[in-house]
Amino acid sequence: MWGGRFAAGPAAIMQEINASIGVDKRMWREDIEGSRAHAAMLAAQNIISADDAAAIDAGLAEIAAEWETGPIEEDLALEDIHMHVEARLKEKIGDAAGRLHTARSRNDQVATDLRLWVRGAIDRLDAGLTAFQSALLMRAEEHAASVMPGFTHLQTAQPVTLGHHLMAYVEMIRRDRGRFADARARLNESPLGAAALAGTGFAIDRQMTSERLGFDRPTANSLDAVSDRDFALEFLTCCLQAGLHLSRLSEEVVIWASQPWSFVKLPDEYSTGSSIMPQKRNPDAAELVRAKAGLFMGALTRLATVMKGLPLAYSKDMQEDKAPVFEAYDTLALALAAMTGMVDGLAFDTDRMKAAASAGHSTATDLADWLVREAGVPFRQAHHITGRAVAEAERRSAMLADLPLDVLTGIDERIDERVYDVLSVDASVASRTSFGGTAPDQVRARIVDARKDVK
Ligand code: ARG
Repeated sequence: MWGGRFAAGPAAIMQEINASIGVDKRMWREDIEGSRAHAAMLAAQNIISADDAAAIDAGLAEIAAEWETGPIEEDLALEDIHMHVEARLKEKIGDAAGRLHTARSRNDQVATDLRLWVRGAIDRLDAGLTAFQSALLMRAEEHAASVMPGFTHLQTAQPVTLGHHLMAYVEMIRRDRGRFADARARLNESPLGAAALAGTGFAIDRQMTSERLGFDRPTANSLDAVSDRDFALEFLTCCLQAGLHLSRLSEEVVIWASQPWSFVKLPDEYSTGSSIMPQKRNPDAAELVRAKAGLFMGALTRLATVMKGLPLAYSKDMQEDKAPVFEAYDTLALALAAMTGMVDGLAFDTDRMKAAASAGHSTATDLADWLVREAGVPFRQAHHITGRAVAEAERRSAMLADLPLDVLTGIDERIDERVYDVLSVDASVASRTSFGGTAPDQVRARIVDARKDVK
């Protein structure tokens, strides 16, 4: 009674769960590039004829031109991008298409395609990260001497410059770029020719395909070549780390833009209004970038969980590797573009930032340091004396710099009028000239250094 339907039903569902074309079609360029390299090598090694290789190459070039402008006609029965390319090739050149798959398997093919794809993604992300650094550098230069409160525990700690604060992110992104570059160097080996898992008996030239595809060398173990996805996991780790950095800056933008702070006004292009509260100017882009950190963590966790405990070599589980990689890439590229645009357009209220830096007795450490330097007081004791000065300022609702000299000398007679030179926030930041410190001259020097690797 249901036999007919049963035979068809599970097959359709099987096809649906089995097919990956909807996701892996994004690798069509890499797949065609890999196939052209493989066909050229097969001909060079006399494994297929020069005529067949020429027909294959011309057919593949035609398919590439076709898909550059039009959509790929998807067919679940053809499972994945590899079979779609081969089927289209057969339509174009006939039986010679069947020779392309000599001495390779979809297992080494997919590993090759994904490595090529991730390599390209890293190069595009590096451009995005560099553009973001450029935006930060420009704003940092503009604000190398603009004073703002520096925080620990989000409590006013010591004055810093806005330029210094922004340069902290330039450093983070420099390391992110370094991580991606390291991942790129490690992934740049060619799995092509590892075949299904054991290599092949055909006299292939793996060095040739490796070179043609811009890899540094062929992978050294065929089992590892088809079953390793640590290059994809490493890519996701790099995305996560960069995403975490973006989320921290986003959080700061959200705080700075909040009215009680009002350190910054968001550009119109990167804020949204409220449908009910006409005065609202919401930092949605920053909030969304802050939240995207969850997606990067999710992508990494997702693929790590797929790979955990998989026996060698290829298992179909690994078909699930692409979606998190593509999603993390798309998200990071978009987040970087949004943050770059936002940083470009932030309007800082430097008066307000400076006033905030002056409040909260942020130069207390400068007073303590002065006592050590000018009066030979041991730091612990200087800390205690300064604490009493802060308490007195608080009692008077005054700033440290506004305490009259007789009040200060009343606290400790070793204090004299020269102390006022260090109690202003400008004097404080100007004094922090240690390498990597917040003094405007230091910040400017670090900007010059940083520009060297932002080209
Ligand atoms: N679509 C597959 C994947 O992405 C390609 C490799 C299939 N290999 C196989 N033996 N079924 O993993």
